[in-house]
Amino acid sequence: MANKRPPARSDLDKGLNGLHLNDVALDTRALRARFTYEGTATEPLVPPIYHSSTYKLKSVDDFLKVMQEGGSVYSRLANTTTESTECAINALEGGAGSLVFASGMAAVSTVFLALLDMGDHVVMNVPVYSGSQTLLKELVRKFGLEVTWVPAGCSIEEFRRSVKANTKMIYGESPCNPDMSVLDFEEFGKLGSSLDGVISVVDATFGSCYLQQPIKHGIDISLHSCTKYMGGHSDLIAGCVTTKTVDLWKRIKKWQTSLGCMLSPHDSSLLLRGLKTLPIRMKKHSENAMAVAKYLEGHPKVNRVMYPGLPSHPGHEVARKQMAAFGGMIMADVKGGVEGGRTVAESLRIVTLAVSLGGVESILEHPITMSHGPYLLTPAEIEENRVTPGQLRISIGIEDPEDLIADFKQALDKVDVSKGEN
Ligand SMILES: Cc1ncc(COP(=O)(O)O)c(C=O)c1O
Repeated sequence: MANKRPPARSDLDKGLNGLHLNDVALDTRALRARFTYEGTATEPLVPPIYHSSTYKLKSVDDFLKVMQEGGSVYSRLANTTTESTECAINALEGGAGSLVFASGMAAVSTVFLALLDMGDHVVMNVPVYSGSQTLLKELVRKFGLEVTWVPAGCSIEEFRRSVKANTKMIYGESPCNPDMSVLDFEEFGKLGSSLDGVISVVDATFGSCYLQQPIKHGIDISLHSCTKYMGGHSDLIAGCVTTKTVDLWKRIKKWQTSLGCMLSPHDSSLLLRGLKTLPIRMKKHSENAMAVAKYLEGHPKVNRVMYPGLPSHPGHEVARKQMAAFGGMIMADVKGGVEGGRTVAESLRIVTLAVSLGGVESILEHPITMSHGPYLLTPAEIEENRVTPGQLRISIGIEDPEDLIADFKQALDKVDVSKGEN
């Protein structure tokens, strides 16, 4: 079969509007002779990466046609590779449409800028990802927004009590970073729908769009840092937003285009590749994390473990209702204070000391000295985020669970519990 196959021919080789390869010099050929997929009997299984920033128009009318009906004229506005990734995400989230962004924070900031006006009020849970908290505080300072913080894991009644006449957005993160509290999506969606003009937003990064789909519970916007599970291999920075309605999608898309914070075609392609294995990765992350969480919960040098799959987690029943499995993130509070947490973080041999989460390799960080430490947050914010000295934020990968447990055992053996408050 292979020897019947002719060499691929370029568009100029086939004749492009009467222009042929022999009509142009090598310098022109190097730029203009291209393999095109159109006209071949088969299409590539994997969408090609369309790096092109601009697109050829057959007539000036094409410009308006594409602007109104879809397609590409300029890649900040729309790009075929990027759109194919957005379609794949929306198919998992079950929304009206998705958008991919240059980072998770680009997704969060575009949602705020698109949907909030000066003087609007936001209700947000805390603990929450420190970048989102810092951004909202900056918007309060600069543009006169108002915010009420409610404790993550609180009842929906507490969210309702915080709503005021000028409330425009209720925002929750679940499971939240770093303490793993859970938000009841169904109740949160109902609250949002019952309040005229109030948009409900959930950052669902820790569960990924495979384990939880906020929009299916009536929530208006689901967003993620795709840098984490959705990319899954710690090799890209990306974010996404999915909306319940086309109107919300259009409002956010308009701001994304103005801010220019779309995801590049190359990273869109990496993200699309990651999504293909999201289901099997999330199952394995969840199985492994359950085994490690159980081990840590029974360890005498561990004060407390927060993992939604453990019956001891205060949000366990809610998590059972809304998550297909409990994910790969664990919060463990080690005895021995800051030194105890540091000792474990620095003694592990397989689990690597690194920020971020959601990749196939197990990693962990020590929030009090790293992501939620004094260089980023004030002492009051550290307390609000419930960061304790021995707290570890653990992202369990897809290695053999027995190896991970043995790794934690040898690291915990080194902790001196007589040091620091227990
Ligand atoms: C829950 C959550 N949301 C948003 C972000 C921001 O994502 P990115 O780093 O991709 O901008 C992070 C990053 O850690 C996160 O954990």
